[in-house]
Amino acid sequence: MANQEDDFKRVISHAKEYGYVFQSSEIYDGLSAVYDYAQNGAELKKNIREYWWKAMVQLNENIVGIDAAIFMHPTTWKASGHVDAFNDPLIDNKDSKKRYRADVLVEDYVAKIEAKIEKEVAKAAKRFGTAFDQDQFLATNERVVEYQGKADEILKRLGRSLENEDLADVKDLIEELDIACPMSGSKNWTEVKQFNLMFGTKLGASAESAMDLYLRPETAQGIFVNFLNVQKTGRLKIPFGIAQTGKAFRNEIVARQFIFRMREFEQMEMQFFIRPGSQQEWYEKWKDNRMKWHLSLGMGKENYRFHDHEKLAHYADAAADIEFRFPFGFKELEGIHSRTDFDLSQHEKYSNKKLQYFDPELKENYVPYVVETSIGLDRMFLAVFSHSLREEELDNDTTRTVLKLPAVLAPTKAAVLPLVKKDGLPEVAHKIIEDLKWDFNVVYDEKDAVGRRYRRQDAAGTPFCITVDHQSLEDETVTIRHRDSMEQQRVAITDLKSIIHKEVDMKTWLHRIV
Ligand code: GAP
Repeated sequence: MANQEDDFKRVISHAKEYGYVFQSSEIYDGLSAVYDYAQNGAELKKNIREYWWKAMVQLNENIVGIDAAIFMHPTTWKASGHVDAFNDPLIDNKDSKKRYRADVLVEDYVAKIEAKIEKEVAKAAKRFGTAFDQDQFLATNERVVEYQGKADEILKRLGRSLENEDLADVKDLIEELDIACPMSGSKNWTEVKQFNLMFGTKLGASAESAMDLYLRPETAQGIFVNFLNVQKTGRLKIPFGIAQTGKAFRNEIVARQFIFRMREFEQMEMQFFIRPGSQQEWYEKWKDNRMKWHLSLGMGKENYRFHDHEKLAHYADAAADIEFRFPFGFKELEGIHSRTDFDLSQHEKYSNKKLQYFDPELKENYVPYVVETSIGLDRMFLAVFSHSLREEELDNDTTRTVLKLPAVLAPTKAAVLPLVKKDGLPEVAHKIIEDLKWDFNVVYDEKDAVGRRYRRQDAAGTPFCITVDHQSLEDETVTIRHRDSMEQQRVAITDLKSIIHKEVDMKTWLHRIV
């Protein structure tokens, strides 16, 4: 546990030190669960967004993208169910005065049981070596079976109690499991209460005429209310999708995990409109498709898993999370939800406007069903960033800190370094930058010894360092150093563009999805 915490602290401080993420309004001691993306962070975030957008909108003929407003008519949120049902179950500790999400306290308890299972697996794998069969071990080892049974039973009961709004039972569960306040160790709990997560604001100048609005808690509703406009103007035929990325806001209670759970964050969502009855098929397809998108970034199959929901949101008939192994364990990264016709039907009801599609093959009108994919951009950023940060032991008994970002997402693709600040080398370096900057983000760095500059670029996540030396003046060649292998090659300056392009080209990476 201490190790996980240390790893996570390292991620947070590295993100600050290398210009990725800062606390919002830090000079005023920050604002809880609100963060700013710095010069490198903004680039990484933009690249992740683009990687998602191209995979959705550019590569699918039947998916289009929109950009709806953050403010929406307040009835939207009544219709969507958010006014009545977008709540978290909260519990306060009477001694520490700390407030928690009751479900998260229970889930954290279960995560500890799961960590024990992982430990048993690791121990057995070491003991049995190549003969180890993990599936068989999980199914037959007595201790593991007992742990798993307990974890499943707890989650089932939690899901049932939340679904039935039986908050008293959630409190009973916390007490039966002997869960203590993580801050104080006290078990002196209040009742569990519901708390709405939407932020309110006002539109209009005078107090009397001002209209109460909400900051959108999800981008999805901007897609639903525009469904017919987009379908008609784009002459789209079902099945088709509408994608968008944008800010969402939630008054989160448990907001202690850096950019994992923020009060202002960005979502990348796609609503796929389908014939009623085909939802199971499309739900499975999108689960598969989204997992492939993740795996295309090369961050290891073993770091992802599906988690099927026991407790379904008010709009869904099936739902699963793609979970990622964050520094604090497996947690939700993306949700895939079969939302039925809930949202469109609700908007029909509240707006008194028909939101139906005429199916030319069936020759009938219907309210389409929807399968949604919804991923937090900031959470994806944290997944990529935390997975990429490594401390590596080198052959000469030293270590290096390296940020092995997938090259396609790296903020800066190459740093150009004159070996010394004289003899015309800076001029050659600048000329190389002038040439490369039309294709890639490149930086110039002449400060310190070249070894230190390599380390600095490794830690910043730059995939290539290009070093200009005295030989460059004679034969127009440079060395190019690869961040991950640290290998160096002597190459012609005229070949630089194609060498870099081969590694960072988005098209090549996107090809891995199919
Ligand atoms: N439209 C469906 C929807 O919003 P959700 O499971 O509440 O579903 C989808 O959110 C994704 O948005 C999550 O999987 C997560 O990646 C991201 N997300 C949700 N709340 C977040 C928060 N407070 N901070 C950062 N990301 C968040």
